[in-house]
Amino acid sequence: IQTDIPAVKDTLPFQVGAAISRAQTLGGHEELLTRHFDSVTPGNALKWDATEPREGEFTFADGDYLVDYAAAHGLRFRGHTLAWHSQTPDWVFKDGDRPLTATPADKALLLKRLENHIRAVMGRYKGRIQTWDVVNEVVDENQPDDMRRSPWFQVTGYDFIRTAFRVAREADPAAKLVLNDYNTELPRKRQAVFNLVKKLRAEGVPIDAVGHQLHVNIEQPAAAEIEKTIELFAGLGVDQQVTELDVSVYTDFVSTYTTVPPEVLALQGYRYKEIFDVFRRQAARLSSVTLWGLADDGTWLSTFPITRLNAPLPFDDELQAKPAYWGIVDPA
Ligand code: XIL
Repeated sequence: IQTDIPAVKDTLPFQVGAAISRAQTLGGHEELLTRHFDSVTPGNALKWDATEPREGEFTFADGDYLVDYAAAHGLRFRGHTLAWHSQTPDWVFKDGDRPLTATPADKALLLKRLENHIRAVMGRYKGRIQTWDVVNEVVDENQPDDMRRSPWFQVTGYDFIRTAFRVAREADPAAKLVLNDYNTELPRKRQAVFNLVKKLRAEGVPIDAVGHQLHVNIEQPAAAEIEKTIELFAGLGVDQQVTELDVSVYTDFVSTYTTVPPEVLALQGYRYKEIFDVFRRQAARLSSVTLWGLADDGTWLSTFPITRLNAPLPFDDELQAKPAYWGIVDPA
């Protein structure tokens, strides 16, 4: 890796992190990670399907490895995630073969499972994970009440969110608790997430921070809308974090590259710069910015929603700095 370029973390006034798997703790990836970042989050290792595949059977091998690794290297840790509709085993939402419904008994069962899960996972890493994405992606601004029709919501209404935060606070009182969502840079989604956080905090639900995923693309200039979002949430007095930033080079879901043209990488560099200029300006309201990956050889966007080349991160397949890197570190 290049050692003659500034460390990303030295150029920014907030914590900067990357989503990783075990593979990113080895070789050149490890060098990149420890040189440029001060925080990590597991891309998958702490999701429900990874930690409690069967009821009451917990598997912490990858989580333990990553939490130990982070501690050994002086990296802060963002836990991700405790209550989500995706990557959650089927058993969670069933009683045997029967899907749970909105009856009081089923609701109590589901909330109990949620409580058990959070106590087990957060309890295991108490004091070693500084921030947790407690609930993920619960808002759907296309529903009349702005709430995603997940099994969580269908069975419990808002109570799974209330329970998740209340139990999370008990399980590790020192952890910062985050409500995380995507598309918060878009006007309707921004407002819907704002309304939800405002309502729940007014009830006393212990939400410390809002997480803006920020999976954006080069075509829509996102910076100005991101700044509006940060300013809106500042009015709630919550902390804010950017939790999953990447800048896709796809402008639609049909284009295909075999290599990404240099002019596209240059435009991407400019998008990163616009976005990080906003973060620098808003640094007092942002406690951390996390990229959803380290280098382009390990991005979820090369497999989602179909397999095709993408290159959304600041380092390329050879772990070399791209224009996107310079967009991040160079405030000029
Ligand atoms: C993604 C992972 O990066 C992939 O490896 C996995 O196959 C699917 O999930 N929003 C989130 C993350 O909150 O958990 C998702 O991570 C990306 C979108």
